[in-house]
Amino acid sequence: MIIRSADFIISAVHPKQFPSTPVPEFAFIGRSNVGKSSLINMLTNRKLLAKTSGRPGKTRTLNFFTINNEWNLVDMPGYGYARASKTDREKFVQIINSYLRTRKSLVYLFILIDSRHLPLAQDMDFIIHCAEMQLPFVLVFTKTDKCSKPELDSNIAAYSKKLNENFESLPPIFLASSMSRNGRDELLAFIFEQYALYADMVKKLGN
Ligand code: GTP
Ligand code: MG
Repeated sequence: MIIRSADFIISAVHPKQFPSTPVPEFAFIGRSNVGKSSLINMLTNRKLLAKTSGRPGKTRTLNFFTINNEWNLVDMPGYGYARASKTDREKFVQIINSYLRTRKSLVYLFILIDSRHLPLAQDMDFIIHCAEMQLPFVLVFTKTDKCSKPELDSNIAAYSKKLNENFESLPPIFLASSMSRNGRDELLAFIFEQYALYADMVKKLGN
């Protein structure tokens, strides 16, 4: 599991700009400021690959990165950013939905959740929306360095309970901190495993 290269491809503001070469893709989404861009930098070991900010609403386009020239990571704008103008918010929703609905090469969506909070309606609604679209997704609880172990356990237990009310089985759950780099190995192992499975399936379908 070695990241040999990580390069920026494009900031898309329109679906027409999504890269047309169909390579396996892993996309990162979640509320504004949850740590999507930071997680991409932590996973790729590139401090400045994705732009981050202490102020919510930093990522405003769909940013595509190619890893090892084999698969892509996609950094998305945050959902539910209250301070963006209504027009901007509508634009984000449109481009995010267009990506989620049409992107055939999306292998897994990583839905990021701030581990410091009890379940938020906004996150639960988005998770349910993704499940309804039959998207393959995992949950990543972020910023675990800011949370005590008991707090983390009880927040995740509360999430699991809510999820169990809505789903028959739980999605894979990861814990991550871009600060301490906890969770990096597990997330990369998952990505590489899913990449191999996907590449294998494409090869078989192609034959
Ligand atoms: P938008 O692009 O605005 O939607 O935000 P984002 O989800 O991409 O968040 P970003 O990565 O820009 O991080 C937001 C803030 O949280 C920054 O100040 C980061 O330094 C901080 N941050 C991100 N991840 C972590 C983490 O794991 N631990 C700590 N302590 N801070 C983090
Ligand atoms: Mg961002």
